[in-house]
Amino acid sequence: MNPAKPVSADRLPELLRKMPKAELHIHIEGSLEPELIFALAQRNGVAIPYRSVDELRSAYAFTNLQSFLDIYYAGASVLLKEQDFYDMARAYLLRAAQDNVVHAELFFDPQTHTARGVGMDTVINGLHRACVDAGAELGLSATLILCFLRHLSEEEAFETLEQALPYRDKFIGVGLDSGEVGNPPEKFARVFARCRELGFHLVAHAGEEGPPAYVWTALDLLKVERVDHGVQSSKDAALMRRLAQDRIPLTVCPLSNLKLCVFPDLASHNLRTLLDAGLVATVNSDDPAYFGGYMNDNFTQTFAAVDLNAGHAYTLARNSFEASFIGAPARQALIQRLDETFETFQ
Ligand code: HPA
Ligand code: ZN
Repeated sequence: MNPAKPVSADRLPELLRKMPKAELHIHIEGSLEPELIFALAQRNGVAIPYRSVDELRSAYAFTNLQSFLDIYYAGASVLLKEQDFYDMARAYLLRAAQDNVVHAELFFDPQTHTARGVGMDTVINGLHRACVDAGAELGLSATLILCFLRHLSEEEAFETLEQALPYRDKFIGVGLDSGEVGNPPEKFARVFARCRELGFHLVAHAGEEGPPAYVWTALDLLKVERVDHGVQSSKDAALMRRLAQDRIPLTVCPLSNLKLCVFPDLASHNLRTLLDAGLVATVNSDDPAYFGGYMNDNFTQTFAAVDLNAGHAYTLARNSFEASFIGAPARQALIQRLDETFETFQ
């Protein structure tokens, strides 16, 4: 049952901020704020082609996914040491806790770092230590999902998997990100089949800029358990029925879609359409340092622009727990916390 009582429009932002939620689509390299990029550049003696934090921030004007990825990969070049990866993830987890994120599954892009000579151990150990500390100190459970860069080859994805396997107890799944159009899921069918045999959770970006056909192949060939973005699915009625029937969650990122011009404005976003069709949609921040908002900004700005109410807020938060890769007892405990928040909100 959805326990949401009617809440007046002026109280809705407070409810959105207070409700416990899970974040399932955050690229940890996309949480690097310009201030931290500058601090790490200085600490590591890395030259970056911007004179100030303001100049860097003013470069964050994107026309599509690729225009963002060029700046995003440049920003990540300041990460060299284990402590850098720890500091980046720690900053995100502290910020997420302020937004009442109680569980987070963090994407990381090892190939962006190993290509620069940074060791896989450096990347994974730094991120994992921040996740462990968040559990102990912030009351926020956090896990890692390794993403393969889809603009690179499947052979390189296999090499990356081999390099990461010594640390397999430190990440729970694999995903697929970077430039989507021209790099369909089927390019990675064999490496995903191998990851499936190894027992990893499987997710993939599909239907962000790419067509519904990419969502179909992510489901049928990669056998993903969740689709990242997936907003283009609304162009295909049969796909919408499949996603609803099989309860395949979509990790939707409204401010990302706005900044990368997937929708012309937030009022045109199809989140409500996805929910009305019975899909397990969730709200996430994607690359919050670049897209102008963390979790609660995504919720409050989207609810201000789209016709969504307290019932939708409950559904979205509950979906985030249903869609997460946490064990059943932890999931039940978080749903109970959510129910209590709604029952006592007045
Ligand atoms: N899409 C694809 N790749 C990415 C993204 C995204 O939104 N963010 C970081 N890498
Ligand atoms: Zn993403």
